[in-house]
Amino acid sequence: MRRGDTAAIVVALSLSVAASLGLAYATQSQKTIQEGVFTEGQVEQGEKVWEEICSQCHPMDIFGPDYMIGWEGATAGELFELLQATMPYESPGILADNEYLEVMVFLFSLNGVKHGQEELPADAPQLYGITIAGPFEWSGGGR
Ligand code: HEC
Repeated sequence: MRRGDTAAIVVALSLSVAASLGLAYATQSQKTIQEGVFTEGQVEQGEKVWEEICSQCHPMDIFGPDYMIGWEGATAGELFELLQATMPYESPGILADNEYLEVMVFLFSLNGVKHGQEELPADAPQLYGITIAGPFEWSGGGR
């Protein structure tokens, strides 16, 4: 074998290693909210937060599919941090992290997003690994 051939093989090998690592990274770290990433219990807790606090100002159905579509491609981390930073409107940040998380997954579930078996942690860096994606179908009342 000539020297040049060996070099070409080494380059080809390292490219394919890089490609498979890249793929592993993408599939491991990025999920969507459609993959059963929160539990039914979290949705139920979120509904309580909604009723006690958010419903004072918001009719539920303004956060239906039209609203969710605007978030497609963003991450759950971004919506979580927006809620923490801005809601409730007059006193943002007063709720516990898990309450912001629960009310967020409640909004997802109102839009037909299914729950799964594993709890979603109220942890922004991990939530940045979860993309908001449809399909969205309104399953709440009030429409
Ligand atoms: C005191 C009234 C009030 C309460 C309580 C309240 N909100 Fe809001 N919310 C508002 C107002 C007003 C806006 C519009 C703010 C703006 O456009 O700057 C808003 C906007 C929003 C938005 C849209 C943000 C965006 O930019 O897309 C979301 C989502 C939201 N609220 C969720 C919630 C949730 C969840 C709760 C309960 C934890 C809550 N709100 C509690 C008044 C309230």
